[in-house]
Amino acid sequence: SSIANKMNSSLGRTIKTVTVIGGGLMGSGIAQVAAETNHQVIIVDQKQEFLDKSLNIIQTSLKRIIKKKFEQDQQGGEKYFNDVKNRIKTTTNINDAVQSTDIVIEAIIENLETKQKLFKQIDQVAPKHTILTSNTSSLPITEIAKDVQRQDKFGGLHFFNPVPVMKLLEVIRISGTSDETFQTLLNFGKALGKTTVSCKDTPGFIVNRLLVPYLLEAARMIERGDATPEDIDTAMKLGAGYPMGPIELLDYVGLDTSKYIVDGWKKLYPNEPSFQASELLNKIVGEGKFGRKTGAGFYNYK
Ligand code: CAA
Ligand code: NAD
Repeated sequence: SSIANKMNSSLGRTIKTVTVIGGGLMGSGIAQVAAETNHQVIIVDQKQEFLDKSLNIIQTSLKRIIKKKFEQDQQGGEKYFNDVKNRIKTTTNINDAVQSTDIVIEAIIENLETKQKLFKQIDQVAPKHTILTSNTSSLPITEIAKDVQRQDKFGGLHFFNPVPVMKLLEVIRISGTSDETFQTLLNFGKALGKTTVSCKDTPGFIVNRLLVPYLLEAARMIERGDATPEDIDTAMKLGAGYPMGPIELLDYVGLDTSKYIVDGWKKLYPNEPSFQASELLNKIVGEGKFGRKTGAGFYNYK
């Protein structure tokens, strides 16, 4: 049985209030799912326009869900929409947003120094009981928590895009994480409706350690002229049963984020052959094309 089953689920605390830092693709989805499962949520971002965009992402997603869930019940759908929206607040002030929260979920840019700096600040202002977590795709949780005093209340919560649809949550503990915190995170995952798995604090945890080298190899296939993007995607959908091909999926994840993941890994693990960069990916990012979220990447979406 898994590590999770061996823990005593009564050990953990109940999470009621959630602060999500970074209202991008992931932060918006995490905030939405937390609000849909009856948590009070605050989203923090650097500018009001990013928060407005985040609320837009959430509304669009909620409408898709309601269309199916409340097909025969328009009033019920409207109530659901408003109830969820009313559980979500936004702010640009981090100190305010962490003042009385049970858990912080960080989903900002994939950069180690930026995350370290953010957690150092939060650690100084958040109440003692607040658990701090990162949604990093690739960076060591241990390193992100380096300057944090409350090592016992730190962990990784790795969600998957699109968060309202993907059922998995990877829960990562570091050496200082207490049993109570770990159990709280497992219980919280369950409360969000996710299935949890755990993994050592290793690069990419389970999913990205396998997925990202595959995505990079697909980009290098294009570079080498082995096959077209369209044929690579068709092949993996129809020949391996994947819902999206690797090139589509790179665009969906975000090419900037994908590049940050590889750059970070190259810096930390320079000799790992499966973590090598793709020149083509770097070139497209250099042109300001970050994938579906900006309207263009390997493919065009406009
Ligand atoms: N919000 C709410 N519901 C959504 C949604 C969203 N953002 N996106 C999709 N859905 C739901 C809808 O209910 C939709 O049904 P409707 O037609 O009624 O709207 C249903 O999903 C199916 O969606 P689509 O018909 O549009 O397309 P699809 O069948 O291809 O499914 C998908 C979409 C679920 C995204 C699917 O293509 C898929 O699973 N793709 C792979 C995603 C993946 O691998 N994610 C992991 C990325 S890696 C990662 O996240 C980790 C990291 O650190 C980088
Ligand atoms: P994104 O670019 O869509 O969103 C990032 C958001 O964070 C932006 O709105 C940005 O304004 C904000 N931000 C940046 N620095 C900030 C700061 N110092 N304080 C407050 N807000 C800040 O990125 P994303 O795809 O949502 O990824 C966010 C995190 O989640 C990254 O660590 C990424 O690796 C991880 N992740 C991404 C995916 C994915 O598929 N895209 C999946 C799982 C995990």
